[in-house]
Amino acid sequence: MRLYSLLAAAKINLYLEIVGSRPDGFHELIMVMQSVSLADRVTVRSIGVDQIRVQCDHPLVPADPSNLAYRAAALLVEKFPGVMAKLGGVEITLEKQIPVGAGLAGGSGNAAAVLVGLDLLWQLGLTQRELQELGAELGSDVPFCISGGTAIATGRGEQLDPLQGSDALYVVLAKYESELVSTPWAYQTYRAEFGATYRADVREFEVRRSQVRAGAMVSALAHHNSAAIGQHLANDLEKVVLPAHPKTAELKAVMTNLGGLGTLMSGSGPTVFTLVDTAAEAEAIAQQLKAKIPDPDLGVWIAQFVPTGVQLTP
Ligand code: C5P
Repeated sequence: MRLYSLLAAAKINLYLEIVGSRPDGFHELIMVMQSVSLADRVTVRSIGVDQIRVQCDHPLVPADPSNLAYRAAALLVEKFPGVMAKLGGVEITLEKQIPVGAGLAGGSGNAAAVLVGLDLLWQLGLTQRELQELGAELGSDVPFCISGGTAIATGRGEQLDPLQGSDALYVVLAKYESELVSTPWAYQTYRAEFGATYRADVREFEVRRSQVRAGAMVSALAHHNSAAIGQHLANDLEKVVLPAHPKTAELKAVMTNLGGLGTLMSGSGPTVFTLVDTAAEAEAIAQQLKAKIPDPDLGVWIAQFVPTGVQLTP
């Protein structure tokens, strides 16, 4: 086989807590991550020259070595020297559906799909765990994007404990195309504002992890209680991103008032999502939202919880 086509699912954070500061300069996090059906298509194809090429139809995604998908391929070449001489180079094609700079791990998902696709194309025989360890070198969300589903992510976000998935809830996602949030900016701003309250001791990190594992969100997921999932949505990064992005803050207020089980900003934003039980409710909320904010700059999507991150397709 000289070509593999994969779907890379977006993720939302049902819960994101910043616990403290880590010796490596990153933040210690406790997150509940959920894959959703909004997905990019990633194709890896053998080419006769020893090169990594990236093609992408999106104006904001660089088709060069700075692209995380390119870096995923370069990392495999570095770890397995000679693989391109033996099996050819690769052309990576990214067909974007997931909005960029949105807090939905679109870039991380593309890198995850490249790792899974190249493991097959270059016959590396890596396990999912090995792929996730490589993924962690590229970005904190890449390991989750490989396995996907529902999971608690701790450490930098790369330590995963799968959770029993909830029902396949629906989600209405909305984002102003012109609003972009830089993840480093969001974390740096949070540190500047709330750094004094950070826990620094690893034993305190463990105490907090145990509390969240035994807490309301994990229990709501285990009991398939969608109302409780909606009620316990939480994201610390809202505290810095929403004040700096009043349009997104207003979007969240409008979406909250449309009903649904709960509304939250995902990751470092600025995508805001509302959870609902059924496709019909999702459709109704999406229509009401477009009527309340008839701005062509506002993108609105409907997706459903899915149990996988990267999926190989025919
Ligand atoms: O790992 P990733 O490349 O996604 O992280 C992007 C940026 O987000 C990091 O450079 C850092 O500024 C911030 N970050 C953090 N703590 C984490 C994850 C990300 O401070 N656990």
